[in-house]
Amino acid sequence: MPFVAEEKPKSPRVRLFVALDLPDELREGIVGWGREALVDPVLRPVAPESLHITLAFLGHRDEEEIDEVASVVRERTGPAPWLELLEPEQRPARGRARVYALPVLSPGAETLQAGVERGLVEAGLHNPEKRLFWPHVTVARVGPEGRGSKRPAVVSNPPGKLPEGLLEARICRRMTLYRSELKPTGARYVPLAHVELPG
Ligand code: 2AM
Repeated sequence: MPFVAEEKPKSPRVRLFVALDLPDELREGIVGWGREALVDPVLRPVAPESLHITLAFLGHRDEEEIDEVASVVRERTGPAPWLELLEPEQRPARGRARVYALPVLSPGAETLQAGVERGLVEAGLHNPEKRLFWPHVTVARVGPEGRGSKRPAVVSNPPGKLPEGLLEARICRRMTLYRSELKPTGARYVPLAHVELPG
């Protein structure tokens, strides 16, 4: 009889990220602005429930690591950060835009991000990119130039400025661990654990 090595079944992989959720009023404000500002036909506005500030993108991890990631996120909590939105920017900064984002000014979010990232790295759960943290809310992605093309289409009507009310400082009271499910219609983000931030 042929020898068959017994293998532990592999844990399915899941795509994980940790984010700051936006206060409802800010989310609604961005959605309202987007109705007038994200109107170019090649723009794909991000769904209201998917607007967030990513603190750590873990990429694919074993499903069985989810609880461990959630505990690290709970341990690395900190004071609820204040944030201010800045005017929309395209990424990459030069050439054809692939996404439009609202950069965020928030020393508190930077402190929180550094703590979460350190905790995840120390627990062996994360290999962060070398790039500096750029706090932002992605508001739209640019569709392809043609079917099957990887090149983004040209945006002739880029998003304009934010109204003054959206430039006021706001406090963010919740951090969430999400699973990202990639679908042909776009990504769906499923919350797995919430942390209420004190302060
Ligand atoms: P983005 O919105 O600026 O694209 C889930 O994909 C979240 O993780 C998104 O907010 C995304 O940021 C962020 N993210 C950071 N690095 C990523 C990467 N290398 N691939 C996909 N998403 C990434």
